[in-house]
Amino acid sequence: MSRDQRMDFGQRCPAFLYFIGKCFFDMKILGIESSCDETAAAVVEDGVTTLSAVVSSQVEMHRPYGGVVPELASRKHLEMIVPVVSQALHAAGIDKNQVDGVAVTQGPGLIGALLVGFCFGKAFAYASGIPWIGVDHLGGHIHSVFLTSPSPEFPFIALLASGGHTSIYYVISHTNAQCLGQTVDDAAGEAFDKVAKMLGLGYPGGKVIADLAATGDPDRIPFPRSFLDKNAFDFSFSGLKSAVHRYIQTHSNDYKDQINDIAAGFQDAVVDVLTYKVMRAASAKDCRQIALVGGVAANQRLRERVRSHAQKSGIAVFAPPPDLCGDNAAMIAAAGYHYLNARGERAGDLNADVYSRATYTKVNSSSSAGIAI
Ligand code: KG4
Ligand code: ZN
Repeated sequence: MSRDQRMDFGQRCPAFLYFIGKCFFDMKILGIESSCDETAAAVVEDGVTTLSAVVSSQVEMHRPYGGVVPELASRKHLEMIVPVVSQALHAAGIDKNQVDGVAVTQGPGLIGALLVGFCFGKAFAYASGIPWIGVDHLGGHIHSVFLTSPSPEFPFIALLASGGHTSIYYVISHTNAQCLGQTVDDAAGEAFDKVAKMLGLGYPGGKVIADLAATGDPDRIPFPRSFLDKNAFDFSFSGLKSAVHRYIQTHSNDYKDQINDIAAGFQDAVVDVLTYKVMRAASAKDCRQIALVGGVAANQRLRERVRSHAQKSGIAVFAPPPDLCGDNAAMIAAAGYHYLNARGERAGDLNADVYSRATYTKVNSSSSAGIAI
């Protein structure tokens, strides 16, 4: 069947187009991500092979404000979405007629920012007569571990620690993950960002704190670890953030001379709690595999600490390279490939809308988004 014939079938029956494509062609999914301050597009084949991945970061624009300004973010996404998608297609060596499906972040995130990518993704798919799917951003992060080899087998435990979310999932399949616990206040990345701001280190704070901590003494200033219920999987980081704030206030004359030790002490307090909870989840679910995903998973101390504990228990740890820990569109394309596969003809309701807050329900077959978590 020729491409034109497939297009013709696809206009009338996208699921059939998808089926034909899946059986006879390598499925090239265009992923689009615009939930916060990165405009990203990627082309991923069969959910595993990244043909291109372009990320246009807005960090410099938001830096003077110490955080993301939603209205500015939306405007920048509008400016960047066409060039970023064009660049991703060019870098993948394909033109728009060779895209087999579109996967675009539907939520959670900033509504105005999400709408830019979401509307663009829908329009691109509609105009091309190809299927599309809305992807949950958190499900996307979980799929970042499938973009490198080796990747985990189901079921596995995933620790998702980012600027907006900190949760532990029992991941049962590509389209089904159970949330075991989540932060009750700040996300881990948010705590890094807020502490960096208190220390006058700018935004975002994760990487800069980690770099300073590398030459600090983590034991000199004992910051508190909040485990909440030690048998449960919820997190709380606001007490730790307040403890750092108090320390800075009571050492206002000389805290600047101790910045490396403060960074190291704070980082270890976060890492200890994340490590304890993810190991506890693996043991509770009798899982031999752990995945670390989200921006904070780029943290070397966290990766080393989890690996060293896991090794003692015979547990394998999977963590994507740092550029796939932060927001990117390859993870959205990888998740979208499986969601499209699972959802078939129910994919791509053009009336679907974006959502700002995380949904923690299991996959719902009547929903337009192929979300898993
Ligand atoms: O996943 P991500 O790019 O965006 C969200 O979905 O939120 O995560 C961004 C977060 C920021 O809070 C940033 O400070 C943090 O990840 N981060 C780090 C590191 N690199 C980025 N936190 C700790 N250590 C790092 N090396
Ligand atoms: Zn993210």
